Amino acid sequence: MTTTHWPPQHILVGIDGSDQATRAAATAADMARTNGARLTIMTVVRPPEGWWGIVGTPPTATAMARMLESAQRDVLDAVEADVDLTDVVYELVEEIGDPAAILSNYTLDNDVDLVILGRQGAGLLERIMIGSVANRVSHKAPSPVMLVP
Ligand SMILES: Nc1ncnc2c1ncn2[C@@H]1O[C@H](COP(=O)(O)OP(=O)(O)OP(=O)(O)O)[C@@H](O)[C@H]1O
Ligand SMILES: [Mg+2]
Repeated sequence: MTTTHWPPQHILVGIDGSDQATRAAATAADMARTNGARLTIMTVVRPPEGWWGIVGTPPTATAMARMLESAQRDVLDAVEADVDLTDVVYELVEEIGDPAAILSNYTLDNDVDLVILGRQGAGLLERIMIGSVANRVSHKAPSPVMLVP
């Protein structure tokens, strides 16, 4: 178990292009500014599973990489446009894989003191429920997790 600093020195926010995630990023930016914490803004793209199904052929590796990169770029560009990051030391990180696992592992490996996520995201889950990424990260992450409505 790593040491968690409080007030936080390193904050991680996960974004998926949803309004909730943008609000989470705005909260994270405010907290980072107030505490002089550095901020990591991460988006994880899950490779589309259907492409490996019985129908059709998978795209070439380059076509797939290009598509995922452009999806991530859109999400990261939007957060820089929509969130006030003035005076915040931040970095944008893009990953490919399972979002909950990657966010949790990043938290463990990079001395993250606080994870901030939207309570829901871009999925079509019932609005009364906490999203599956938020739910799984709050169970797995070694640091406190804050969910923004
Ligand atoms: N791919 C992702 N990369 C980074 N952060 C993410 C990702 N997906 C979700 N998050 C974070 O988790 C929050 C909750 O989203 P989550 O995916 O858990 O809910 P949902 O999309 O409503 O439901 P579900 O995906 O389970 O159908 C988002 O607001 C965002 O902060
Ligand atoms: Mg989701």
